[in-house]
Amino acid sequence: MDRDQELALALAAQREQLERAGQAHLLRFWDELNQAERAELLGDLSGCHFPEIMSFFDRAVSVPLPIQQQQQQQVDEQMEPVPKEVQGSVSRDWERLPEWKAEGLFQISENKVAVLLLAGGQGTRLGVTYPKGMYNVGLLSRKTLFQIQAERILKLQQLASEQFGHKCTIPWYIMTSSRTMESTKEFFTLNGYFGLQEGNVIFFQQGMLPAMTFDGKAILEGKSKISLAPDGNGGLYRALRNQKIVEDMEKRGIGFIHVYCVDNILVKVADPAFIGFCIKQQADCGAKVVEKTNPTEAVGVVCKVNGLYQVVEYSEITLVTAQRRNADGRLTFNAGNICNHFFTLQFLKNIVKDYEPKLRYHVAQKKIPYIDENSQQIKPDSPNGIKLEKFVFDIFQFSKKFVVFEVLREDEFSPLKNADSQNGKDTPTTARHALMSLHHRWVLNAGGHFVDENGTRIPAIPSSTTGMSEAINNNLQELADVPIKCEISPLVSYSGEDLDKYVAGREFRPPLIIDEKGVQELTANGL
Ligand code: UTP
Repeated sequence: MDRDQELALALAAQREQLERAGQAHLLRFWDELNQAERAELLGDLSGCHFPEIMSFFDRAVSVPLPIQQQQQQQVDEQMEPVPKEVQGSVSRDWERLPEWKAEGLFQISENKVAVLLLAGGQGTRLGVTYPKGMYNVGLLSRKTLFQIQAERILKLQQLASEQFGHKCTIPWYIMTSSRTMESTKEFFTLNGYFGLQEGNVIFFQQGMLPAMTFDGKAILEGKSKISLAPDGNGGLYRALRNQKIVEDMEKRGIGFIHVYCVDNILVKVADPAFIGFCIKQQADCGAKVVEKTNPTEAVGVVCKVNGLYQVVEYSEITLVTAQRRNADGRLTFNAGNICNHFFTLQFLKNIVKDYEPKLRYHVAQKKIPYIDENSQQIKPDSPNGIKLEKFVFDIFQFSKKFVVFEVLREDEFSPLKNADSQNGKDTPTTARHALMSLHHRWVLNAGGHFVDENGTRIPAIPSSTTGMSEAINNNLQELADVPIKCEISPLVSYSGEDLDKYVAGREFRPPLIIDEKGVQELTANGL
């Protein structure tokens, strides 16, 4: 059988299914396609199981929009803040931190902890064509987000091994999508897995779903291309099931999993304090949060709705609710979600097996480029269709013991969302500054100092990330542009520990790097 005959056979099988699912329009341009284009379209189609997709669509849109809005009003009225007894905080509970850290590190040393990275997003706002983890925000070391995270894992393995006297491993599960899988794997291979063992880095792929018109027709982006997008970071659970990842975790004896997003440059991968806190509280599910201080900040808050934990987006509540304050002046709904979660393996197993299929997809109305009947490429000005997505936090509601761990934003949260050209929040510049500012503070805390070009000590209070973004917002670009240039390799210190031997009592002229080679003061033109 030649290639044309093969394609004709595959087409016949697809046509019947598409007709049954009301999607035969996807073959509209078939007669105009060459062999390669036909193969491309059939490839897209083979990844779409339309009976299932139509059932997702029907359930998602079964609540018409005005009613959804009414429900949001109700959400507002049913919201309750996270109760005190399930909260822990790095600042308020500082005297219990050593106990939590010790527990987390012990579990790491026993090979009980895995990390799971959500890296299947498309990074549309950042606007790069490659996976976000491969982005270099312009650090002195030129390290990418993937490398920083890999080195944090290596360092933690080393800390736990040294403390408990035997080798240990933190497996790293990396969720990609069909768009990011090949380039992500290639990047890890090219970089020798950043020193990690290849067998302990496990890639898996989330599903893709077609963008749909409001009446349930999959959208053609080109004559031979369906408009496909990953099914949201909550696509995690379907992917865990389809690719038997939970079974792999079980085989390795994992008990606890830290799930996080690729774009937070400050992420404390497998943070022993967070893991230890959750375990000591006997939680099956936990969320790390930062305090939301500005009522209008576009961050989701962890709270209870109708007695069940969930994340409520800023856009889903009224300003009055967002502005509510407690007697101590803090916002009532202040648990800002930073996509940093703890799960026990048992909880994940229950989710994957029983609960996730019950979840409805969220509907996002979008402007979706398409090709019309006259073969014209159209970029609509207003939403013309929907994307279906699940969110990683959709499953909080199924937790039997849910906890919340509050950490300091300037120490742990600086996401990379937008390009520098957008000149605002969550850009490569703000991410770079946040990391340098944190490392500057580590040096000061370990007894080091910085001096300027005249040898005069630079005042010892570094500007914080918040200060930085305020400076940018206020157009104080000069201030925003000049953090102390200082970077400490994760291979030297995971969270500021063990730096005394490098810096105590010493003065440094920035730029400063401390890495495996030791302390390096770089001249500005050496950068
Ligand atoms: P965002 O929602 O910020 O999306 O993802 P994004 O893809 O990074 O950027 P935009 O919205 O296209 O500009 C938060 C985290 O969830 C992951 C992302 O990789 C990021 O770590 N994610 C998002 C997935 O893993 N899968 C998805 O389908 C969506």
